[in-house]
Amino acid sequence: MTVVELVRLDPTGADRDELIRFLAAEEFPFHMRSTISAEDASTAVDSGSFRDAEHDTSWLVHADHGRIGIVRLEDLEDPVPLFDLRIAGRFRGQGLGVPALCAVTDHVFRTMPSVTRFEGQTREDNTAMRRVFVRAGWVKEAHYREAWPVHGAAPVASVAYGMLRGDWETGRTTPVPWDDDEDARAVTA
Ligand SMILES: CC(C)(COP(=O)(O)OP(=O)(O)OC[C@H]1O[C@@H](n2cnc3c(N)ncnc32)[C@H](O)[C@@H]1OP(=O)(O)O)[C@@H](O)C(=O)NCCC(=O)NCCS
Repeated sequence: MTVVELVRLDPTGADRDELIRFLAAEEFPFHMRSTISAEDASTAVDSGSFRDAEHDTSWLVHADHGRIGIVRLEDLEDPVPLFDLRIAGRFRGQGLGVPALCAVTDHVFRTMPSVTRFEGQTREDNTAMRRVFVRAGWVKEAHYREAWPVHGAAPVASVAYGMLRGDWETGRTTPVPWDDDEDARAVTA
């Protein structure tokens, strides 16, 4: 077994109660909603938000620690899926983020042959997630200024990262060609 594996969960069947418990017990300070009531978690789970045509959810299972969190794949009917990764509070800050994201990336490219790129976004102040993206070989592709609404405070930036199938296969990192319009640069310089 690799360090972290994905084990597909059955959100409306065998795993329903534990999934709801997980969502309602944990805090997610960098999500739009940092806490979720058990009632709201039940409604979301029962409405198919964790497994339907667009979504699929797995436990993240660590070789030593067992279940350390969940990953929900999103936009599965689009050519480019997204994900939401949530490690339980007691396992955060212990170096599990990178193996978790690598396991998710491996899963997507191995089991979804038509996917050629995989995307993720997080808040600019979610330092841990941003480090995880970079350490796992993902490339920052966008910085959407003031795009992430924050309840009772000014919006923060949303930062987007991507992984190409070709880079995943070869271990190379293809950079973003930020300065590809030399003419525009010459005019504004
Ligand atoms: C974001 C998350 C996946 C990161 O995983 P993690 O296991 O906690 O992070 P790691 O221990 O692997 O640390 C990764 C890096 O972030 C740094 N880091 C960890 N926690 C940090 C914190 N609270 N503040 C600042 N940096 C932090 C680590 O030092 C490490 O940096 P390094 O590579 O330079 O040494 C996890 O914390 C989590 O699930 N948080 C709640 C949900 C969430 O925000 N998900 C992201 C939505 S996509």
